[in-house]
Amino acid sequence: MLLHTPRLLLRDFVPGDWPAVYAYQRDPRYLRLYEWTDRTPDEVQAFVQMFVDQQAEQPRTRFQLAVTLPASGEVIGNCGIRLTAAGSHEAEIGYELSPNQWGRGYATEAVAAILRFGFTELGVHRVSAWLVADNVASARVLEKNGFQLEGRLRDKERYKGRYWDVLMYARVAEE
Ligand SMILES: CC(C)(COP(=O)(O)OP(=O)(O)OC[C@H]1O[C@@H](n2cnc3c(N)ncnc32)[C@H](O)[C@@H]1OP(=O)(O)O)[C@@H](O)C(=O)NCCC(=O)NCCS
Repeated sequence: MLLHTPRLLLRDFVPGDWPAVYAYQRDPRYLRLYEWTDRTPDEVQAFVQMFVDQQAEQPRTRFQLAVTLPASGEVIGNCGIRLTAAGSHEAEIGYELSPNQWGRGYATEAVAAILRFGFTELGVHRVSAWLVADNVASARVLEKNGFQLEGRLRDKERYKGRYWDVLMYARVAEE
């Protein structure tokens, strides 16, 4: 599966993509808002394999794609959409990028492409996303893509010695 954006190519993962993912998931800037304090090669290989396995689902309900730079082929992150169940009108999105590529509008562009795919190809009506409230950049990515804040789950997560509020965002097809 391939999705083109003005500056990016989103494609299905292959197992050999894991070193590129490992390189950025170990970055402290990336790890700051996650439960993880570090990542191991085994963990990242399993992480990538999970996305490879999605490609064999019948019918396929999960599409977590590698975000790449077309000129070099470099894997700089992932972005995807998953239906809540086969044939559902509802889906959830998730995305992440290498910190070396932040602040260039790439996440906004990748999310726009995955949303188009969801609304037109998958025929979904409602797409939701959640994030920790400290993740201001991620909230902006959603707002720039027409998502609305639907709720705040206070102290929903606990890791790294503190509680984290979680924000729920969603966009429906007409918006
Ligand atoms: C969230 C993430 C994907 C954003 O990627 P990105 O390519 O930098 O995003 P964009 O450049 O498209 O947009 C980021 C927006 O956030 C803004 N932003 C970034 N950091 C900010 C901060 N600390 N305070 C306020 N705004 C901030 C940017 O200015 C930009 O908004 P603008 O276009 O209005 O100026 C990236 O930071 C990331 O991968 N983080 C780690 C993984 C993660 O959090 N994934 C999402 C889980 S829900």
